[in-house]
Amino acid sequence: MKIFQASNEIKDYLFPILKDGKSIGFVPTMGALHEGHLSLITEAKEENNLVVCSIFVNPIQFNNKEDLKKYPRTHETDIQKLKSINCDVLFMPSEEEMYPEAPTETFDFEGLNKVLEGKFRPGHFEGVTIVVKRLFEIVNPTKAYFGIKDYQQMLIIHNQVKKLGLGVEIVPCSIIREENGLAMSSRNELLSPVERKQASILYETLKWVKIRSGFATIEEIKQQIRLQFKKNKFVELEYFEIVDMYTLKSLNRWAESNNIIACIAANVGNVRLIDNIILFS
Ligand code: PAF
Repeated sequence: MKIFQASNEIKDYLFPILKDGKSIGFVPTMGALHEGHLSLITEAKEENNLVVCSIFVNPIQFNNKEDLKKYPRTHETDIQKLKSINCDVLFMPSEEEMYPEAPTETFDFEGLNKVLEGKFRPGHFEGVTIVVKRLFEIVNPTKAYFGIKDYQQMLIIHNQVKKLGLGVEIVPCSIIREENGLAMSSRNELLSPVERKQASILYETLKWVKIRSGFATIEEIKQQIRLQFKKNKFVELEYFEIVDMYTLKSLNRWAESNNIIACIAANVGNVRLIDNIILFS
């Protein structure tokens, strides 16, 4: 596996590959790689001539300094994992490399950055979009792979790529789960064994919602969930919303949309986790 830190060096390496008409699959990450990330790389390998993974803990997408500080960094094991699945290229830029000057770009998110995660993490999607656009400009991928655990992120990137005409195909990839149903996330590493067990309540709740969707009213479902979480002393519910998959508008009645997703965020101890389930599409 080739490893690059400098953007001009990776660009020089990839240029002849693109010129030959070969496809580049790209998996941007912040490291602390788990099976979810590895599944994206495996999918990218099946569909492209060459696969690039990036590891960069992007400071400008963290609205909380503590969260940035404690974000897991496991570079040596990450490199071993990438080698074991034959990832072709790894890009690990420094902060100075990505942001020689403070970024000032702005984007029109048409409100998608203000709901769900955006409501609780102001500036998060602005930071994500800036870094993803820069990484795309460096790597020039044919296709880029995003897990739908971060559904809102995938949707926002998909829309911005279209809007800005970046010419990258965004490939949404399924959520990979641990044995107890907990969605794989780099943040899971920060959970104690007890918290990890308790964290399965997120997916349990989503499965429970799926069974009732279309039958119980949305308000009844939300009320039940609030009650269930109040009883749990390990997990604090931040939000549970049932929204349209494309506008992310919160729904009051099932008939308001044909494409519906339920999204949840909760704190388990000091670790903030998110998950979702598609109810209708
Ligand atoms: O999902 C992530 O890991 C990050 O938000 C991303 C897309 C790599 C941008 O920093």
